[in-house]
Amino acid sequence: MTGGAFKDMWDLGLVGFGNVGKGLAKILDEERDALRRRYGFEFRVTFIATGSRGSLLNPAGIDLGSALAEVGEKGSLRGHADATDKDALSLIRGRHARVLAETTVTDLRTGEPGLTHIRTALDGGMHVVSTNKGPVSVALPELTALAEAKGLSYLFEGVVMSGTPALNLARDALAGCGINGARGIVNGTTNYILSSMEEGMGYGEALGKAQELGYAEADPTGDVEGWDAAVKAQVLAMVVLGEPLRLEEVERVGITGITPEDIASARAKGARIKLIAEVRRDGGRLAARVTPEEVPMTHPLAGVMGAANALTFYTDHLGEVTIVGPGAGGVETGQALLTDLLALHRRHGKA
Ligand code: HSE
Repeated sequence: MTGGAFKDMWDLGLVGFGNVGKGLAKILDEERDALRRRYGFEFRVTFIATGSRGSLLNPAGIDLGSALAEVGEKGSLRGHADATDKDALSLIRGRHARVLAETTVTDLRTGEPGLTHIRTALDGGMHVVSTNKGPVSVALPELTALAEAKGLSYLFEGVVMSGTPALNLARDALAGCGINGARGIVNGTTNYILSSMEEGMGYGEALGKAQELGYAEADPTGDVEGWDAAVKAQVLAMVVLGEPLRLEEVERVGITGITPEDIASARAKGARIKLIAEVRRDGGRLAARVTPEEVPMTHPLAGVMGAANALTFYTDHLGEVTIVGPGAGGVETGQALLTDLLALHRRHGKA
């Protein structure tokens, strides 16, 4: 495996350079000195691969500012000094990096192309940090087992609530606490649309803005039909409750049927419509659902507006523990990848 000239230098390969990949690159570029000073974390990005906008390779480290400028100005990396003809898979196979940061477009049905990228990276000895929900949904047990067998880490904090640490809160900070359920708002796009409609904006315009702001999936159908919230409910069931669950087993209703009249009618009753996701152990049975609900204005979830998300964990020792924060966005989700990279550094940095 490569490790570069310095033992503690992390060589990173980015596959996917959309909102989230660029968000990570921006943070890494701006925080390089602080990361070294605060965490002893030193890195080079040795490759960046995209599906249709070209790829970069430079074992000495790509200048992230120039890569961001290139794609920002020209919409492509092909004119950059480090441009290469190699595609994502050959770069992953080429042992150019010790960590893959996978942020390609999510396909909840097949998990591809992210699933193959992640499987190939783990198989070849790379750690993986990823915000891609498809591979977690389709193949979490397989990928976890593969990582464990190889002594590697596969981390995906950003799949739920972007950089707001929902999974790390439940798994690490609440270690020792029994968690029996989780309930909240886990999709930024739909919460942004519902909030905007309440202010009088039309559905189409609100969806357009959510796309412009980088909250929506490449195909926003997944957001508005509740699939994105459903996959997060599935991940919460698998990761937090330790219950195997398939995406199709999550009961799901999206927001496409919500009209301005529904919003006004909820308001007249002192309530607000929110797309609520819930997973709960109910006796011996696991209940998982996503559905629009009228939430009373007095309830804390009613005050969560725009692309913000909120999640309450139902625990034995602490009762209800709630986390509120950004649920979508490029830099916000890039932050989740940084959290995962620093976790890798703590776990494997001196190895
Ligand atoms: N499309 C997702 C959302 C992105 O709106 O919440 C974050 O997972």
